[in-house]
Amino acid sequence: MREDLSVVPRAGYREVWDRSHSQRDEFWLEAAERIHWDTAPRTALEQRSETEWRWFPDGTLNVCENALDRHVAAGRGDTTALIADSAMTGTQIRLTYTELRDKVALFAGVLSGLGVTRGDRVLIYCPMTSEAVIAMLACARIGAIHSVVFGGFAANELATRIDDAKPSVIVTSSGGLEPGRQVRYLPLVHRALEICGESASGVRAVVVADREHVPGSAADYAEDGAGATWYDWETLVAGATPAAPVPMRANDPLYILYTSGTTGSPKGIVRDSGGYAVALSWVMRGIYDFGPGDTIFTASDVGWVVGHSFIVYGPLIAGGTTVLYEGKPVGTPDAGAFWRVLAETGAKILSTAPTALRAIRREDPELTELAKYDLKNLRAIYLAGERMDPETWHWLRDGLGVPVVDHWWQTETGWPICANPLGIEELQVKAGSTTVPMPGYDVRIVDAAGADITAPDVEGNIAIKLPLPPGGMLEIWGSKQRFIDSYLAAFPGYYASGDAGHFDEDGHLFVMGRTDDVINVAGHRLSTGSLEEVLTQHHAVAECAVIGIADALKGQRAAGFVTVARGNDISSEALAAELVALIRERVGPVASFRDVTVLNRLPKTRSGKILRKTMRQIVDGETYTVPATIEDPGVIDEFIAALSTTVSAPATNVVTLPR
Ligand code: COA
Ligand code: AMP
Repeated sequence: MREDLSVVPRAGYREVWDRSHSQRDEFWLEAAERIHWDTAPRTALEQRSETEWRWFPDGTLNVCENALDRHVAAGRGDTTALIADSAMTGTQIRLTYTELRDKVALFAGVLSGLGVTRGDRVLIYCPMTSEAVIAMLACARIGAIHSVVFGGFAANELATRIDDAKPSVIVTSSGGLEPGRQVRYLPLVHRALEICGESASGVRAVVVADREHVPGSAADYAEDGAGATWYDWETLVAGATPAAPVPMRANDPLYILYTSGTTGSPKGIVRDSGGYAVALSWVMRGIYDFGPGDTIFTASDVGWVVGHSFIVYGPLIAGGTTVLYEGKPVGTPDAGAFWRVLAETGAKILSTAPTALRAIRREDPELTELAKYDLKNLRAIYLAGERMDPETWHWLRDGLGVPVVDHWWQTETGWPICANPLGIEELQVKAGSTTVPMPGYDVRIVDAAGADITAPDVEGNIAIKLPLPPGGMLEIWGSKQRFIDSYLAAFPGYYASGDAGHFDEDGHLFVMGRTDDVINVAGHRLSTGSLEEVLTQHHAVAECAVIGIADALKGQRAAGFVTVARGNDISSEALAAELVALIRERVGPVASFRDVTVLNRLPKTRSGKILRKTMRQIVDGETYTVPATIEDPGVIDEFIAALSTTVSAPATNVVTLPR
């Protein structure tokens, strides 16, 4: 093991990328030396079949030990590991590596005491408080597989994930804080368990962190009678014995993280332990130029992959300080919120979604708030989650005077596919481009038949030559076949990213949008299919289509188009209000669903396919083509006329769920 985490071999980007392919195994085995192994791997890659591969098959390690204990052992126990800053409560807590290790070991003891053992699933539904991080690392410590669910999802979405992951324990909190409201989690967990019924019979315990700012505690559910026993976090911790890290096989799953696909049922992306640890260790140095002594502020949520990789595992494996932020970029209390956190924590890196910066720009275009803070440590800003518009990119780079790195990646890959690798070499960047493929990623543009498009500036499907590098997804939880069908079948020999784009003549990649029914709303990935499924549950809806339309702030937003079932006498306003409330209740506020247009009929082809692309182009004011196969060309004029009747219903926070 290489103990000095501050050095990375110096070589130019091109040289490093080439070597990651020409001497692939040596490259990754060398990267693996930065990790503490119980058994160091001798084999880099085991190719089991064309569609199945495993990294470091003979290695054993514990990821939590790599994130905490090894730093304590190396004398960095007094270094701050975690700064939890809440703009919502005006509090900030700091935990050193020793303190965080001790809390994690105790909570790991709690989980063991509840009978959780290696391979068991633990579902974590927590706000952005330190308990979320502690619970994740505690799972990793004892070999349990965590599945974190984003707090902005409602009971139904939670139920879908409980049903699929079959956790034995749920870790939650009395709630989160959003501007102007409390998000009470316990009724949502209770409701989700009710929805699951028998399929949640394996949930033995619900552990509740009682937050003073949000009412609700385990005691409220003591008489629940629905199977699981509800426990108070602090009470369990008070009686727990610390648990030691358990050596795991490199291929043992570390976590399942659900993400939206084209259907209503989310895909449980399975991440391994060893490949992920090695990849993140490489990324923190190679892409972020981050190591011991550095602080990173990733303004995302632990419920997303960005939070997993760059709030929790990456920075801690690298031995630096990570910031967990509960709040918004604006309004909590102003557009200087991010600059305050950067100044107070001395962060070197800010990583966030473009939406957040558009929000700041809208409130404070002249960056007047910036003058109040000293950002002397800030070296670079990284953006991901959605396309970064060139205008905001220029505004940010000119205003902050640091490199702005737009990097492209997905829940599936776990770390950036394309970036500007500042830790290796700062490349020339272009607004609108995610720069170049990272080591291990052989990125191609392919046409519909899977043939390579080698000419520059020609748009096609972005595909990655197999195998994916370490840290990439292993499979979809519960279905190897679904993994193949969803990602590997479209272009044999490649992983289909679901994104479209092109390389320019300098080999810089431009990611332009999705090729499927996935949309990115404020960097949150949603499936229009799942929204459609909910809309059709309304008795007055005959047919519907949900499309992602351009939104100046959130990048995209979901717009619903519905036809009314015969015999229903309901005004467009009333229907829109009910549909907005329904999506909020079934999917959650994160869907930001507001716009409903009632149509007499949906534009379709003769074979019945809804013309979603044409609809989107019309709504976005783009040039559109009407396919020759359209059922009746007159429907387009009807559609355009109906757009003036779109109802934008206000979001209602009143979602009454039975206790
Ligand atoms: N728990 C409960 N509800 C949540 C939530 C959470 N963790 N996160 C968001 N929500 C709710 C919000 O309160 C909002 O509800 P509302 O309709 O009652 O206002 C809704 O979900 C939509 O949230 P969001 O898309 O985040 O919008 P917002 O209005 O709260 O904030 C911005 C808008 C402009 C501040 C947004 O730019 C932003 O920064 N979003 C976060 C971007 C991000 O981190 N993406 C993750 C990908 S890396
Ligand atoms: P998620 O899995 O939630 O991280 O979402 C991944 C998707 O977000 C990608 O497939 C892209 O569609 C989009 N995305 C992420 N990063 C970028 C980026 N830098 N530029 C453009 N789109 C991006």
